[in-house]
Amino acid sequence: MGKVYVFDHPLIQHKLSFIRDAKTGTKEFRELVDEVATLMAFEITRDLQTEEVEIQTPVTTTKTKVLSGKKMAIVPILRAGLGMTDGMLKLIPAAKVAHIGLYRDPETLKPVEYYAKFPADIEEREFIIVDPMLATGGSAIEAINSLKKRGAKNIRFMCLIAAPEGVKVIQDVHPEIDIYIAALDEKLDDHGYIVPGLGDAGDRLFGTK
Ligand code: PRP
Ligand code: URA
Repeated sequence: MGKVYVFDHPLIQHKLSFIRDAKTGTKEFRELVDEVATLMAFEITRDLQTEEVEIQTPVTTTKTKVLSGKKMAIVPILRAGLGMTDGMLKLIPAAKVAHIGLYRDPETLKPVEYYAKFPADIEEREFIIVDPMLATGGSAIEAINSLKKRGAKNIRFMCLIAAPEGVKVIQDVHPEIDIYIAALDEKLDDHGYIVPGLGDAGDRLFGTK
């Protein structure tokens, strides 16, 4: 069974409080999501493999560690996942970026795919899907399906806020997937919004409401 990691670092929790606050405007919201994504990227890369190399310091030669070249790709779920992409790339600048365009039908709450573009070497890459919100889980499942269908073997899912319903759906449908979240909230409301949540992540990021 995949694990659920809640990144309860004080800086992440502090910034998340302002992200949640309805008084926070688009500019600040966008900056904070970007900053939290960078902090989460720091946490999620803890298990990257390193290898020993020998270098010359100004004082002596020494053995030290460097990353051993894992091939990574970040997969923002459009639109709102875009808000987390640059923040992650600050720490993982060599990662490729794949895109999946999904929107949630407001009536059925089911995801509809409208765009998908992935790197060619899909089987060799480690994918991190990013989206601020994991609500019913429909969009996450669709994104994971889309990657698996094209041959992806190594997939993780990262979001700011998750509802217990969404976490359970991923665990039921794709039990091997590790899930990384900044906060696990209480529940979904009757419209599929996370409570207490932050509202509509896409609208708050792009100022469309
Ligand atoms: C939001 C959010 C997720 C999805 C989560 O996107 O960014 O992708 O809802 O809900 P789910 O877990 O119930 O599928 P939305 O569909 O509003 O599209 P947008 O990013 O284009 O605004
Ligand atoms: N999508 C959002 O943007 N917010 C929610 O609370 C649920 C789905």
